[in-house]
Amino acid sequence: MTETIRFLMCPPDHYDVDYVINPWMEGNVHKSSRDRAVEQWQKLYHILKDIAIVDLVEPAQGWPDMVFTANAGLVLGDNVVLSCFYHPERQGEEPHFKAWFESQGSTVHELPRDLPFEGAGDALLDREGRWLWAAYGFRSELDSHPYIAKWLDIEVLSLRLIDERFYHLDTCFCPLTGGYLLYYPPAFDAYSNRLIEMRVPAEKRIAIGEPDAVNFACNAVNVNQTIVLNKASSDLKAQLGELGFTVIETPLTEFLKAGGASKCLTLRVTEPIRPELHATTQIESRTIQMKGHLLDSGLLNRALDLVVENGGSFKVLNFQLGEQRQSTSTTEIKISAPSQDVMEEIMSQLIDLGAVAPPQEVCDTNLQTVAQDGVAPDDFYVTTIYPTEVRVNCQWVPVQKQRMDGAIVVSQMEGEITAYCKLLRDLKAGEQVIVGVQGIRTVRKAESREQRNAQEFSFMGAGVSSERRVELVVEQIAWELRQIRDQGGKVVVTAGPVVIHTGGGEHLSHLIREGYVQALLGGNAIAVHDMEQSMMGTSLGVDMKRGTPVRGGHRHHLKIINLIRRYGSIAKAVEQGALTRGVMYECVKNNVPFSLAGSIRDDGPLPDTEMNLIKAQEEYARLLEGTDMILMLSSMLHSIGVGNMTPAGVKMVCVDINPAVVTKLSDRGSVESVGVVTDVGLFLSLLVQQLDKLTKPYKVVQP
Ligand code: ARG
Repeated sequence: MTETIRFLMCPPDHYDVDYVINPWMEGNVHKSSRDRAVEQWQKLYHILKDIAIVDLVEPAQGWPDMVFTANAGLVLGDNVVLSCFYHPERQGEEPHFKAWFESQGSTVHELPRDLPFEGAGDALLDREGRWLWAAYGFRSELDSHPYIAKWLDIEVLSLRLIDERFYHLDTCFCPLTGGYLLYYPPAFDAYSNRLIEMRVPAEKRIAIGEPDAVNFACNAVNVNQTIVLNKASSDLKAQLGELGFTVIETPLTEFLKAGGASKCLTLRVTEPIRPELHATTQIESRTIQMKGHLLDSGLLNRALDLVVENGGSFKVLNFQLGEQRQSTSTTEIKISAPSQDVMEEIMSQLIDLGAVAPPQEVCDTNLQTVAQDGVAPDDFYVTTIYPTEVRVNCQWVPVQKQRMDGAIVVSQMEGEITAYCKLLRDLKAGEQVIVGVQGIRTVRKAESREQRNAQEFSFMGAGVSSERRVELVVEQIAWELRQIRDQGGKVVVTAGPVVIHTGGGEHLSHLIREGYVQALLGGNAIAVHDMEQSMMGTSLGVDMKRGTPVRGGHRHHLKIINLIRRYGSIAKAVEQGALTRGVMYECVKNNVPFSLAGSIRDDGPLPDTEMNLIKAQEEYARLLEGTDMILMLSSMLHSIGVGNMTPAGVKMVCVDINPAVVTKLSDRGSVESVGVVTDVGLFLSLLVQQLDKLTKPYKVVQP
């Protein structure tokens, strides 16, 4: 008998399952037996009375869940944090518990109404009193944790619950005497599991399986070496026995119907206090600003969702709604995260959505010096396709050479500050690279309702691809191609060999001849098959007129490779009259530069194919500079490569028969990309027809 340990319980006079606020209550409304509940509760009460002191609070009518005193509040010494229930169904319990705590002479701390926290159901002290484990995710809000840390003057470790069956921390987590921990790991997110593993050594962790978890084995009352619970498997009992614990099982099935068991039915009101320890929490908060068509375009939803999905929490500090259709809204939001790591992850995603720190807050980004050529400092900021600006000496400096997956180098020479994207491999020791996410913003075009619909249209068109939809997209692309050509702009085509196999070669040749293409990017194969077709009439051995394989045709492409190797290059083969038509021919004839990037599966290769991939990437990047539009024709590999090098604002049209490729490429979150799911040969033929239609009137007036 331990005199000093006290619990609070509440007799089940008014207990029933009256409503559904957790998955266990579903299908159980009014299905529990009052008599059996009373009997089970009494049993638990007597077991506990033998090992501790049990106080009772008078049950209040109309508040059936008041039996679950774990949710009354959290007690440490003279201080109590009163629960602030998430569900209105339980909020009426608060004054009753408050009165009881006050009758004990405790100091009762109350959270703001909109900051839910459900007491010892969601906050469990380490049995040695070293720290408090506090949960968030379902009932309690992360932002309540700093209050608790302050009021109880203790370190709070925040854990995120992710399985709604285990909606309270005490349903899946139970600190035991001697620093042991009984818990169900899948109830927590990865970050929380890491935190648990950092604090509790492996030999002290007792991870249980799902069968025990759903019997509420973690919802146990631990008094010294005794563990009182509803039910545990024989394995678990044996394991706990070996560690010196005595397990007492007492059935609590009637309470399980409401989603609780022994621990929920009790509140420990005497907890060990360690006066030498003080409040700390790793929770970080930052304020961001957002501006744009926040509601129309769904930007705000996306921002808030990503905060929560990544384990953070938010508070909208202010919101100014743009009232007219064209006016933009602005908002300031306080973001909290359980740790710096999580905060950085959330912030980098928010930056992608155009969120910025309030200007007065940061004067500089964090810079770190590159120590080793080709290797960035650990925490380097990874660039995106969006135009980015960084804060240096209290000014916003635009980042040059924007591309995805690079680092940002800042250099200051003779007072002039420049910032530019660099690939990791190109970094040089001594360069200054931005680390962290402070003082970085991406500049996004205000997405309006109209633009978003247009974007959705193109995705939809991509998805279902009815012929009329493809025609509509083609009309739009043809119009833009003509505009770009007439204004002296630049269109780059990336193409895979499928262009040739599907009969698109003649149409692509036509586009090049007519000046619609300013550079061609591809691999060995497109060039080989194009020339095979031009010179032998087959594409990978298939007769392109009849569509049937030609005897010995599988060797054709090697013959072509060999031939071009003899000439030394594609251009030389054209010069000497060996190659007289086709895509590659038109490139050479019309001075359209091309780059062929090699790969492991290349036959030959052609003398023009660059097998040094770093060189090939550089060549691609060079040809892509200043591009207005990229037509990506059935080449996942080359198109993704190109997509990574291209900043937002460049229109990308991705055509592929495979919807997955189209989605992957169009889903850059930028308004400018259009996906078309269709046969690429057909697409090119429609495009050429449409361009002819558009250009005809001009030709007619010329005498
Ligand atoms: N029906 C109650 C609720 O959903 C059960 C509370 C269980 N208490 C606990 N500490 N897990 O709130």
